[in-house]
Amino acid sequence: ESLSKGPYAHFMLKEIYEQSESVMNSMRGRLNFQTKSVMLGGLSEENVYTINSSRRILFISCGTSLNACLAVRPTFDELLNLPIAMENASDFLDRQPHVFRDDVCVFVSQSGETADTLRALEYCQKKGATLVGFTNTVGSSISRLTHFGSHLNCGVEVGVASTKAFTSQIVVMMLAVLRLSDDSRRLAPRRHEIMDALSRLSADVAECLRMVAPKVKALAQRLLDAKSVLVLGRGYQFASCLEAALKIKELTYVHTEGINSGELKHGPLALIDENIPVIIFCTKDAHIDRARSAIQQVRARKGKPIAIISERDEEVEAAADDIIQVPQTVDCLQALINIIPMQMLAYELAVLRGNNVDCPRNLAKSVTTQ
Ligand code: G6P
Repeated sequence: ESLSKGPYAHFMLKEIYEQSESVMNSMRGRLNFQTKSVMLGGLSEENVYTINSSRRILFISCGTSLNACLAVRPTFDELLNLPIAMENASDFLDRQPHVFRDDVCVFVSQSGETADTLRALEYCQKKGATLVGFTNTVGSSISRLTHFGSHLNCGVEVGVASTKAFTSQIVVMMLAVLRLSDDSRRLAPRRHEIMDALSRLSADVAECLRMVAPKVKALAQRLLDAKSVLVLGRGYQFASCLEAALKIKELTYVHTEGINSGELKHGPLALIDENIPVIIFCTKDAHIDRARSAIQQVRARKGKPIAIISERDEEVEAAADDIIQVPQTVDCLQALINIIPMQMLAYELAVLRGNNVDCPRNLAKSVTTQ
């Protein structure tokens, strides 16, 4: 595998564009589109039984990897009969919460070496829990210390700001939840719907890259002098807000906040005025009415909403200052598509601001100290 930028100006841009291929590589040999079945080396019959008969699943992670866990949480909630908890590794270590022998603790880490995630793993190991790992790095500490798990297979990621690892984490965790729920006849139609969407995912990512590139370039010019940016969404798009905000702040050094739009009236509405750009995810799912209401609330306070849509929507288009349309996929995979224009926006803004795209100030690819 060559570590060259090829025709791209930066590794980050190369990695953004690689995603139509890397999501496919994460599925290769694992998802059989014909037989509608999932095989993950790490999830043997016995390991599936261990997880399904556990007390609960705890996802423990940092940064973008934690956002990927949040992106798949609704699907784990939906397809499994288990309580699902999310833990930021450093906060988990500060609190030292109860962990039980029959808990399954899932450690998600691109590098497999993040110190906080590793310390949390050691803590759960002492409690006797089952340890599962999803990493991109074969032979990494997390892949060695967990009982079982899967690799992302998305190839080496060089840019400090994670892009293709995020989308592959979503894919691999989706495969895992499909495997864990494959003995349910009741869930078969939903599982097939997700598998059909996975079979089109690579094409949807390619289409998305093509659709959003010119729009995002123009939007970056418009947002160049912004002092602060808000990103709103809810439900499946809550994770997208956090990840979009993380990408923009890492790359541009501009204050950016990802906010669950269900919380708007509990404080964030006070931030809205005619100067602050507000990006709102309004892609079609069960929460679209609430997304429409959020955009109206922003508009009513003279805000200038920028809407990400997946289908033409008169109300959203009338309320928004700017629209970015992306391809529509199944609701629980839409976050993977929606993040692509946000990765690009962060990239374009960083280039315009003259920032170091592949190695933003004060950050490291792998944080091995606590
Ligand atoms: C660092 C990187 C982030 C990454 C986080 C977790 O902060 O800059 O891009 O998301 O660590 O890394 P991991 O390797 O555990 O996924």
